[in-house]
Amino acid sequence: MTMPVQEPLSRNDFPRDFSWGVATSSYQIEGGTKEDGRGTSIWDTFSGTPGRVVDGDNGEVAVEHFHRYQEDVALMADLGVEAYRFSVAWPRVQPTGSGPANRAGLDFYDRLVDTLLAREITPWATLYHWDLPQPLEDTGGWPARDTAYRFAEYAGHVADALGDRVKHFITLNEPWCSAFLGYGSGRHAPGRTDPVEAFAASHHLLLGHGLAVAELRSRVPDAHVGITLNLYPVEAAEGRSGDDAVRRVDGLSNRWFLDPVLRGTYPKDVVEDVAHLTDLSFVQDGDLERVSTPLDFLGVNYYTRHVVAAGAYPGSAGVEFVSRGLPTTAMGWEVDPDGLRDILTRVTRDYGDIPVVLTENGAAFDDALVDGRVHDAERVEFLRSHLAACRSALAAGVPLRGYFAWSLLDNFEWAEGYAKRFGIVHVDFQTQVRTVKDSGLWYAALLAGRDDPEPDAAPGGALAGGVTRDLDPQATY
Ligand code: FCB
Repeated sequence: MTMPVQEPLSRNDFPRDFSWGVATSSYQIEGGTKEDGRGTSIWDTFSGTPGRVVDGDNGEVAVEHFHRYQEDVALMADLGVEAYRFSVAWPRVQPTGSGPANRAGLDFYDRLVDTLLAREITPWATLYHWDLPQPLEDTGGWPARDTAYRFAEYAGHVADALGDRVKHFITLNEPWCSAFLGYGSGRHAPGRTDPVEAFAASHHLLLGHGLAVAELRSRVPDAHVGITLNLYPVEAAEGRSGDDAVRRVDGLSNRWFLDPVLRGTYPKDVVEDVAHLTDLSFVQDGDLERVSTPLDFLGVNYYTRHVVAAGAYPGSAGVEFVSRGLPTTAMGWEVDPDGLRDILTRVTRDYGDIPVVLTENGAAFDDALVDGRVHDAERVEFLRSHLAACRSALAAGVPLRGYFAWSLLDNFEWAEGYAKRFGIVHVDFQTQVRTVKDSGLWYAALLAGRDDPEPDAAPGGALAGGVTRDLDPQATY
């Protein structure tokens, strides 16, 4: 376990207008994949392919959020959540990935947004959380330049439909994953394994981002627009030679996305590293100006730190990822809250004072539902220590504007299927019953203004007295 945080944690440690939220994404929770004219996404195809996802799981039913969104919004309101980051499924809006909008598909998000606003929860819409319409993959996917233009067209449809009420937009979620897991390692949809295509995909994702920002701004002048990157502090393993490994991993994981978006250039050293693969001829004149259109905020997703050493073959690009023996989550990721402070302060130091929003942070653990309760003490400690890291980052001058816990609900964790639970609310995948975990109770107590709520928020314990709302973990949602 990480050391318990000494200073009591309170929401008063954070700015008054800080956004306190939870996050989800469309394919991971919605289900209803054939409803209202939704088209097929690359994740439908990928998870329908034997061997791709643990236990052959898929998102066809997921946690039925498509049908249960009202209950889920009520649940958020009961938790006292003030902002909700969800994603719009592109195949609901454009079943074939281009052309006019499918009104019935957009209507779902219309209803969701209205329900959120009625409960005074601010909607934050992500336009792309990995569910590319399959027809666009069939014509080349992200390695094809045209996909960037299709994305901008889709962004315009969403802005037209929701922009009167949604004022916070995130263009892409973690383009590193879309490019390098989707087209490089093949671990994610569409499962291609071609390093050159992965680089082309990364550029076209960023180009699509830049074009989409322009569409959003022209239609919703008062929109706050950002992109979400998965960032990691990278350091050398103790006692090992690793400076070049650090440079390479930091280059590909962080700077390959931060530099073009915030500086309008690709990092020279990485361009040289990959010269034997690609001459980047897919980068055309004017692209980087579009990619670096000024943003209102940078979204950061943080899960862990990378510790690396030179790989087994000196002189090659070999990099070894080293474990420090710290406690890990069920994903095998080391729990490292200091890494969150480090990456946030680094972004501010190297890229200036762009407002930063932590758009995802959370952990999977092997939860047990016993007598209607989930005593997920490790997740409580995870959230608490990472929020303390946010507080340190604020004190160090990082303009951090919000925190979104990943995730509201247990859900379809991509290639891991339903085997990994990230929710602060437990979902019984058979009955779809939602049960607030102790971590959800803890977050609710923090949001309700209770200083340093007890990790084990048992009824009669931390939630009794001091907390205005009466949250019953066993309420049926
Ligand atoms: C991030 C994804 C999110 C979820 C978490 C655990 O990379 O954005 O959908 O899977 O990891």
